[in-house]
Amino acid sequence: MKKRMGLFAAATLLGALSLGTLRAAEPDNHSPEMTADIRTKMADPELAQSDFIENCAGCHGLRGTTVPAHLPEIKDRVGWFMCTPESRAYLLRLPNVAHSRITDNAQLADLMNYVVFVLGGKSVPAGTKPFTGEEVAHERQFALTSVSLKAERLRLANVAIAKCRAPASLRLQYPGSTQ
Ligand code: HEC
Repeated sequence: MKKRMGLFAAATLLGALSLGTLRAAEPDNHSPEMTADIRTKMADPELAQSDFIENCAGCHGLRGTTVPAHLPEIKDRVGWFMCTPESRAYLLRLPNVAHSRITDNAQLADLMNYVVFVLGGKSVPAGTKPFTGEEVAHERQFALTSVSLKAERLRLANVAIAKCRAPASLRLQYPGSTQ
């Protein structure tokens, strides 16, 4: 198991490195630093980080950014979805999150706290409480489908823009997207 993870992480890193050569402006695509304050949001920050690398970074990138690929940008944006109870639930109801092969809800909560507090950076509204295992256990029962996802995302982005001063570009999958 450990060995598989190592191989996967290495593959992800290799991918990131070759992307890095394409994007001279962002040569360093290492995982972001975790400050002491942010580490308090997770029971096991190292596990949360390696879970993200193993389960999510293959699509979303080590830093939560994949531009110019057509994927939603997580870096410095995902935190806006912590604006209301409904929009934070959206993050747990995403198909790849709700159906994650991580069955331990507290462990998945930690992974999502890594996503929000580490990758989300300054987009997290002040006073936001970390996800709990109980919250994950409840919300993952209501996984979104690819049919319901787009409309729900747009609706919740509009709420975050109105209530939490999220930028208008949150309506898009990433700033500058034409979709
Ligand atoms: C196979 C590729 C893939 C994997 C693996 C994946 N995602 Fe995603 N993710 C997507 C796509 C595509 C979307 C856009 C919505 C959709 O179609 O599901 C998305 C949407 C999201 C969003 C919503 C962002 C927004 O702005 O609305 C978040 C947050 C997210 N994923 C987190 C994760 C996490 C955490 C994991 C790991 C547990 C993960 N994803 C694994 C492809 C992936």
